[in-house]
Amino acid sequence: MGAHTRNNILYCLFWLKATFALALSLTGLFYLSWRVYDLHTKASNPSGSDSPNILQPVTIVDPGTGKVAESCMYTDTTFARLEPQFTGKMMPGFHLDWSYETPTVMKKKLNDFTPAVFNTFMDLIPGTFSHGFNEDLLNWFGSECGRTGSMLELTMQVGATLDTVTQDMYDALATSITKINTGYGVPVYLRFCHEMNGDWTMYGYQPTLFKAGFRKMAEAIRARTNMTAMVWGPNVGITYPFSGGGSVLLPRKGTPDFIAMDTNKDGEITNLDDPYSPYYPGDDVVDWVGVSLYNYPLDNCYNCRVLPTYFADYLTGEGAALEGVTTVTPAYTEVHNFYQKYCAGAPNKPMMLPESGSPFITERVARANAQSVSESELKMQWWEQLVSAENLAKFPKFKLAVQFEEAKMMSPTGVPELFNWKVTNTTQVLSAFNALLDRSASTIVSAGKLKFGCDGSVKQVKP
Ligand SMILES: *[C@@H]1O[C@H](CO)[C@@H](O)[C@H](O)[C@H]1NC(C)=O
Ligand SMILES: *[C@@H]1O[C@H](CO)[C@@H](O)[C@H](O)[C@H]1NC(C)=O
Repeated sequence: MGAHTRNNILYCLFWLKATFALALSLTGLFYLSWRVYDLHTKASNPSGSDSPNILQPVTIVDPGTGKVAESCMYTDTTFARLEPQFTGKMMPGFHLDWSYETPTVMKKKLNDFTPAVFNTFMDLIPGTFSHGFNEDLLNWFGSECGRTGSMLELTMQVGATLDTVTQDMYDALATSITKINTGYGVPVYLRFCHEMNGDWTMYGYQPTLFKAGFRKMAEAIRARTNMTAMVWGPNVGITYPFSGGGSVLLPRKGTPDFIAMDTNKDGEITNLDDPYSPYYPGDDVVDWVGVSLYNYPLDNCYNCRVLPTYFADYLTGEGAALEGVTTVTPAYTEVHNFYQKYCAGAPNKPMMLPESGSPFITERVARANAQSVSESELKMQWWEQLVSAENLAKFPKFKLAVQFEEAKMMSPTGVPELFNWKVTNTTQVLSAFNALLDRSASTIVSAGKLKFGCDGSVKQVKP
């Protein structure tokens, strides 16, 4: 499919998140403050969960000595912060539309399978269409995760260039996140300024500022807690550089950002430049890597089957699924092999798909052809790749995938169409997804089987 269409999809997805955040902030604040109160009154007596983690306050600093408790020191040399201590398995997670569902509701829909991670979006500095960072709201997200014994993925955007974030803002955010860690025993994956290698965020295409900002965020977190992991989350770079309709332009020639992004030094920023490394803030401040990766439909493809190697090909920058999207040469693969660079190679970081899914497009049903599949098939074929024992053996550092549970009108081809990523909104797709969870028992891990430590450990305590 054309790069233009793909960019439109990425761009729409960004606004979809931002618009949702606005809606939630406007309708939700009063309600949420009530919910937060209500929650605190119930917090001491949660019911119906098999997790050992529920709403157990954590003491990081020993009140007697005022020093960090020894048990809260991150000393593991094998596993990163919040890297589950298993291999060959992964944790399914969910990004929720929190305006109508919570982790507790989701757990019920999944027949008591408890996703280990739930995601939400927030803006440290509000952008045009998004709400600002709000401690009560953040606290509510954290406590809702605590009710099911799950972890929180916090995708924290900034609706401005990163030089406008002050040290006080980093400190305030780190303090709030630490309260979630200690108040509810809920670990947090902080995906700070994700998709910084795209043109649809205010902080995009600015590697110098991004790397400095990410480092400040990491330092503010590290000074307070080991139960929060820093997640570096670029967009998948197969069609990089992205352009058209975004918030920012490519840097001007000769600037430090341009020089950093022109990795092959040919005087242009092209598909043969590394879409990731200019933005990598450093092994010492990155705990996890996470790449935004979805199954995206081709323009001329009407809900067609998911190409069987899609996940693997997009992670490694080679293979049949990239045909028709880009020209793959050894030079191309060398800079697009994300897994090799960050997970198999020296950094050896655990990897997540921090948001993922396969959209079904209702408007394209009428044009179905021999390649077309049903909604359940389209969504399960994607998830099959994420839970497959073969892929987990091939990519042992891949340990978490977060389902993007939303639906929205988008117009990538100029005509409005309903892009529906949800797997739990209709009985039919939900039963297919629950069946997939059932038959994948040997490769997936739920929150109920995990135990979290204040040192940032995530241990599997049940088979
Ligand atoms: C986190 O772990 C490091 C390394 O062991 C330790 O020095 C630090 O005190 C811990 N920080 C907190 C807040 O627990
Ligand atoms: C389906 O999604 C709509 C919002 O689009 C929501 O109001 C409804 O509760 C959802 N139903 C289920 C079963 O999730």
